[in-house]
Amino acid sequence: MSLRMDTQARAAFDLGNDAAYQAWRAAKLARFPGTLAELVVEVRDPRALSGSERQALLERCARANMAIYASASAGGPDKAIPRALGLQLGLRDLDSNYLADDDGISPLAVAESATRGEFIPYTNRGIKWHTDGYYNPAERSVRAVLLHCVERAETGGENELLDHEIAYIQLRDRNPQHVLALMARDAMTVPARLEDGRIERPAQSGPVFSVDACGVLHMRYTMRAINIEWKDDVATRAALAALEEVLSAPSPWLFRGRLEPGMGLVSNNVLHTRTPFTESPRHRRLIYRARYYQRISAG
Ligand SMILES: [Fe+2]
Repeated sequence: MSLRMDTQARAAFDLGNDAAYQAWRAAKLARFPGTLAELVVEVRDPRALSGSERQALLERCARANMAIYASASAGGPDKAIPRALGLQLGLRDLDSNYLADDDGISPLAVAESATRGEFIPYTNRGIKWHTDGYYNPAERSVRAVLLHCVERAETGGENELLDHEIAYIQLRDRNPQHVLALMARDAMTVPARLEDGRIERPAQSGPVFSVDACGVLHMRYTMRAINIEWKDDVATRAALAALEEVLSAPSPWLFRGRLEPGMGLVSNNVLHTRTPFTESPRHRRLIYRARYYQRISAG
């Protein structure tokens, strides 16, 4: 991206530059998909995309920060599928959290082992709105997430999805002060995690919304009330209440769907939920999750 484009992109998120914001906003909303179906790209083999399949995925990610691929040939439990697909979309560096397998890809399924079972992703419970890796330090920001479905649940296990740029627009349109409050460096603190009396992960403070050197908007957020400390002032509380309203209200930009075997979601770490689910002997949910430090790109 050229320096001029970076400057233009950054200007859209400058609260002092309403003209730049309005121009970016209008272009964003004009291009935004009207339905979840518009995000879906049928691919023959996610390990070896054709040029047009890859272009179609990149084009949807440019418009909505996410795309869904669907393939009849990719239902097997093979981590090479998400790894190879990620590489074709410029996703190289995996964030290895300590619950991921050694290869950095997490098999999300109802856990039998105790450690994983303490964390909601490894249960059949619902998960509230969040972006992935919100507890990571800035230098390990999760900029992209890939979910690949091996097996679906018997019932439930859907995802709601909202492009974080749309959430930004909805908040700024309500009141730019909400955005200002959520850009504060001390807006959100994830307390240190202790294990056997030693610090497994230090406390992480940071903004909800930030803009990187390329002028790209990043979001860290969780609606979970526990294990999170919000800045205790009127502006932050008002901004969080407004954000919860945005995430709770139906809107034309908020999508909901379930990944079926062989399908997957590629995203620039958009806001998402997971609904609770039930399983049966035929349908034990298994999703491979890969988190990356890069955004999705053609490069
Ligand atoms: Fe997540």
